[in-house]
Amino acid sequence: MCGIVGVTGTNKTVSILIDGLKRLEYRGYDSAGIYVNDQAGKDFLIKRAGRITNLEAALTPEVQGMAGIGHTRWATHGEPNQANAHPQYSADKRFYLVHNGVIENYKDLKEEYLSDVKFKSQTDTEVIVQLVDKFVTAYDMDTKAALLKVLRLISRDSSYAFALMDKEQPDTLYVAKNKSPLLVGIGKGYNMVGSDALSMLNETNEFMEIEDHELVIVQPDHVTIESFDNEEKHRDTFTVDMDPNAADKGAYPFYMLKEIDEQPAVMRRLVQEYLGANGKPQIDEKLLAQMQEADHLYIVGAGTSYHAGLVGARLFERFAQIPTSVHISSEFAYEQPLLSKKPFFIFLSQSGETADSREVLVHVNENKWPSLTITNVDKSTLSREATHTLLLYAGPEIAVASTKAYTAQVAVEAILAKALGEYLGLEAAQKFDVKDELAKVANGMQALVDSKDEIEAIASHALSKPRNAFYIGRGLDWSVSLEAALKLKEISYVQAEGFASGELKHGTIALIEKNTPVIGIITQSRTAGLTRSNLEETAARGANILTIASRHLAKEDDSIILPDVDEMISPLLSVVPAQLLAYYTSLGKGLDVDKPRNLAKSVTVQ
Ligand code: F6R
Repeated sequence: MCGIVGVTGTNKTVSILIDGLKRLEYRGYDSAGIYVNDQAGKDFLIKRAGRITNLEAALTPEVQGMAGIGHTRWATHGEPNQANAHPQYSADKRFYLVHNGVIENYKDLKEEYLSDVKFKSQTDTEVIVQLVDKFVTAYDMDTKAALLKVLRLISRDSSYAFALMDKEQPDTLYVAKNKSPLLVGIGKGYNMVGSDALSMLNETNEFMEIEDHELVIVQPDHVTIESFDNEEKHRDTFTVDMDPNAADKGAYPFYMLKEIDEQPAVMRRLVQEYLGANGKPQIDEKLLAQMQEADHLYIVGAGTSYHAGLVGARLFERFAQIPTSVHISSEFAYEQPLLSKKPFFIFLSQSGETADSREVLVHVNENKWPSLTITNVDKSTLSREATHTLLLYAGPEIAVASTKAYTAQVAVEAILAKALGEYLGLEAAQKFDVKDELAKVANGMQALVDSKDEIEAIASHALSKPRNAFYIGRGLDWSVSLEAALKLKEISYVQAEGFASGELKHGTIALIEKNTPVIGIITQSRTAGLTRSNLEETAARGANILTIASRHLAKEDDSIILPDVDEMISPLLSVVPAQLLAYYTSLGKGLDVDKPRNLAKSVTVQ
């Protein structure tokens, strides 16, 4: 949550900051701001409530500089107005700070050190910048020493990514992080910082990691990394294999539609990356060896990634025959279940930065348990800190509602389950032709995205007016129901729930009124008949029933028919119409599909 950029050493500062912020807008979009300094005596602070376009509109031609910092915000402390937007600055207008994260002990710090300071905002960030100023002016410290003192005072449970500028050293960015993501970008004659690589990819392909509890000093021709004890550290740079244009919307009205449409290509890319010509999974043997030693797999994730984990658990149990449970990371982190003797952890995360999941991984590492992160973002925090990583190869996912990352996660889980099962010599895995099945999935997805018009018509007819809707199914269809309902509620604001269809009559059926949409997902032979009966029970109480059914289980009146694939990976297809139904419902209501209210793409606060 919140995006940070900074640059020093170029007269392109303003355009680099604005371009970077636009690429980070997925991380928060309730207000934005920049501070730039021309190093010849002029500086500018521009902040606006709302989107980056509001900030851009406020820039006059004279706003130029050789260094600057910028921020796009997802409010944690104080409402999203101009005063609370970042950069926050000290009372004497010497220090400017952008921050992503939450300072848990900001009230204590304010009380102890800053009772004489008049605050302009309600943010925790302002406390930090005022505190730096206080230590410099009242205690006669230099900026670095003052910042270090502040960093030591911030409680360990806080999260932050900071970029600080001092008007008296206008070519220097002081940078530090704890839990929140931040990278250095190495340019030619100038250097940058950003919350992710994509925000700097137009300028450079060379990056440097920052670890928690380091102080990084970024100057036009030099980057210094030190521990809090002033010990200088050497850090190699790395490059990222990503096309900066992959994050462009092209002719699409919204990223979400583009990302739904990209799913067949993502499936084909995964086949290319992970399956050899003979269909044999190409998975690191060390990973398989560690997994086969486990007596229980624990899948950890949040939101859509958690839902992908629900599908994965069935795949691992079926093909690798290892008991698997799935956990919501924000729950697991604070209410750890009793673990088996030899646990193996699988983290699912599109961004690789979700704070709740990272909290669990820190604990896993403290206990030296082996782990795997399945993520879309190479070198992300969860990827760096887990024992193993498998990438999703889905390309940047920009829309807040996750689509192609979900299907990529399920596909990678299917490949891994097959690989592990084969490694263990299990027949079910040997018989599962994952390469052929994923090829069928890619074609099936293509057929579904090509029939958008029909799905749009269903959305406008059935989902545009009701306040509530239900997705129901059993087994894997229930797992998809949860994801389908999340998609609908997060972007169209229809209060949607996913239910195990057998549970309806144990309470929820009381909510069914005339015309309440109830959408049944039917892809599993064993339970198809039961789900259909449950749908009829709701119809008898006035529900408007719709069905998404696999061809081999379809009936004449079904609303959407899915091409046939192995039932174990049917979620890869049944989720696609649900994504499109959510998209068209949101579009029909005139909402901003890509940036739903109150949300941000990357949830880096707990
Ligand atoms: C919903 C959505 C979220 C994320 C969740 C976890 O469409 O995108 O529920 O799935 O915030 O994010 P990652 O996968 O980045 O850990």
